[in-house]
Amino acid sequence: MGEAQIAIVTGGGSGIGRAIAHRLHRDGFAVWIADRDLPSATKVAGELGGPVPARPVACDVTERSSVDRLVREVVHEDGRVDVLAANAGVSSMRPFLELGDDDWDSNLAVNAKGAFLTMQIVARQMVQQAPRLGRTLRGKIIATASMAARQGAPLLAHYSASKFAVTGLVHAAAKELAALGVTVNAVNPGFVRTSMQEREVAWEATLRSMTPEEVVADYIRQTPMARLEEPEDVAAVVSFLAGPDSDFMTGESIEVNGGAFIF
Ligand SMILES: NC(=O)c1ccc[n+]([C@@H]2O[C@H](COP(=O)([O-])OP(=O)(O)OC[C@H]3O[C@@H](n4cnc5c(N)ncnc54)[C@H](O)[C@@H]3O)[C@@H](O)[C@H]2O)c1
Repeated sequence: MGEAQIAIVTGGGSGIGRAIAHRLHRDGFAVWIADRDLPSATKVAGELGGPVPARPVACDVTERSSVDRLVREVVHEDGRVDVLAANAGVSSMRPFLELGDDDWDSNLAVNAKGAFLTMQIVARQMVQQAPRLGRTLRGKIIATASMAARQGAPLLAHYSASKFAVTGLVHAAAKELAALGVTVNAVNPGFVRTSMQEREVAWEATLRSMTPEEVVADYIRQTPMARLEEPEDVAAVVSFLAGPDSDFMTGESIEVNGGAFIF
């Protein structure tokens, strides 16, 4: 086995990011688990044993200086970044007519600006590093967008706008960075069983006068494959996009949602 490739997973302390960290580590990547919640990132790093390192690092993706520090530390320790999973995200739910600046700003700050900052700062590193032996690409970027990056959903106008922004960013960056040896793709999850979903179920139950169980049943009813999505379902597709079998793909968003939205 050659030297381990280096991956950064933002939002790696919970849910989908945790599953991506586990999966890429299993694939042989040395993984940096970046999260604004350092204890969570540390816990996930502790779950990953073996010869290839998994390291936690505090990072707030909304702050350029914080992302700069993250990438400097990774490059100082490991010399390069082969894969970025730009996954950190937040959500809230509010009827459109009641949507305030706070909800708009917080969702756009993490989901859109956070994706922009991490993708740009990591891409600046990727374009100046040599391809690995036997490879042509210098790096791969994979954003976690959403089914809401394809269609708006009630109560989620601000979240949906922030995720449409990620799709636009992926398309544009893919076209600019292709000639520089960096691919940029996205995964669009559906109804994934994570702490974000637990919060959304509680909000939606209140806002739609339903029980939490009825909300979950509605998510499953909307999913032709008839179950909630697991974080590992998303991580498996991220693994494909991080590996050599997707080398000729860029600017693509892959729907991973059990058929809940077919683009
Ligand atoms: N759960 C779903 O149904 C679902 C569906 C589609 C897309 N997504 C997207 O998947 C991604 C992961 O969501 P999840 O469901 O695992 O949520 P989660 O809340 O379980 O995990 C999100 C992680 O991101 C971290 N984070 C939040 N803001 C941050 C910041 N500013 N800087 C660094 N880290 C930050 C949190 O601390 C947390 O560890 C998000 O981008 C989300 O929008 C989730």
